[in-house]
Amino acid sequence: MTTDFTNRTVIITGAGGGLGRTYALEIARRGGMVVVNDLGGNVTGNSASHSMADGVVDEIRAAGGKAIANYDSVSTAEGAQAIAEAAMSEFGRIDALINNAGNLRNAPFDEVTQDDRDSIMGVHLMGTWNVTQAVWPHMKRAGYGRIVFTASGVGAFGNATQSAYGAAKGGTIGLMNTLALEGRDHGILCNTLLPNAASRMSEAMLPESMKVMGQNTARFRTAMRPEFICPVTVYLASEACQTTHEMYSVLGGRVARAFIGVTEGWLGPRDVPPSVEDVASHMGQIRDESRGFTIPGSLPDEFRLLDEQIANRS
Ligand code: NAI
Repeated sequence: MTTDFTNRTVIITGAGGGLGRTYALEIARRGGMVVVNDLGGNVTGNSASHSMADGVVDEIRAAGGKAIANYDSVSTAEGAQAIAEAAMSEFGRIDALINNAGNLRNAPFDEVTQDDRDSIMGVHLMGTWNVTQAVWPHMKRAGYGRIVFTASGVGAFGNATQSAYGAAKGGTIGLMNTLALEGRDHGILCNTLLPNAASRMSEAMLPESMKVMGQNTARFRTAMRPEFICPVTVYLASEACQTTHEMYSVLGGRVARAFIGVTEGWLGPRDVPPSVEDVASHMGQIRDESRGFTIPGSLPDEFRLLDEQIANRS
């Protein structure tokens, strides 16, 4: 189990700048063959150019690495197919995918336009869906794959003025949760990154959504560089990574597992439904994390955990 990428092909979407560029450079430095995908537009996702992807490919080749540029948009199924086909025709295999492409359009919820919502959903959620579906058969056939999903603390925990972004990123967490289960028997491991870094995207945040982060900027500054996110992502895309179905938050030099858990809760009557008053009077117990919690590995796992709880009670 290695963090070397020799003979491995890695597709990185949105790799023409920001976080994705650091991943591309590091994986190529470790011997990987990299597809540097980037639409090359501005932070809102408008416009397009070849210069961003080309610039990163030039950097990789100048350092002796192997890479090709791709300029397709992740937000269409055709674009995603073209990205996978570029990898297959140039390198003959796809070992890892880092879903990283993203755009940003923040606004208070009642001011979000349909166009903004669709654009954010199209790049983050449908883009992740499209490219993952395009590489999936190749990984399944090979019996090997590593897929890194890029969500966000916004999708996992929330942040004001980022409703479309939060909904889209939350959707990628649900997608990862399911694909991790489908992929496990085929050697395809799926994990989600919750990154936090200074980039053009963080510069485009509205003051309302930067309140807390702004207060801490001086203490966090150096460790907010994209290079602090890169090692975690590269690890998750490597053969050495053996976890699947997990989320990792990387913030200001701290790497931590994030998860969705269920409290021990209140085990109500099982022969008749509880009343609304029963629920109201047990809200303390329902919400109480101090008595412990579980992290279901799947929906069937939550059933199994409840079954154990019932057996223990009786
Ligand atoms: P960035 O704006 O520097 O990089 C995103 C890249 O995606 C850009 O190069 C852009 O041209 C490309 N892109 C946009 N639409 C595309 C499309 N339709 N097809 C292909 N490429 C497209 O931003 P950054 O900060 O490097 O973000 C990388 C990822 O990390 C994004 O998914 C973002 O949502 C996520 N993220 C970043 C955080 C941060 O603090 N910077 C926080 C949480 C998540």
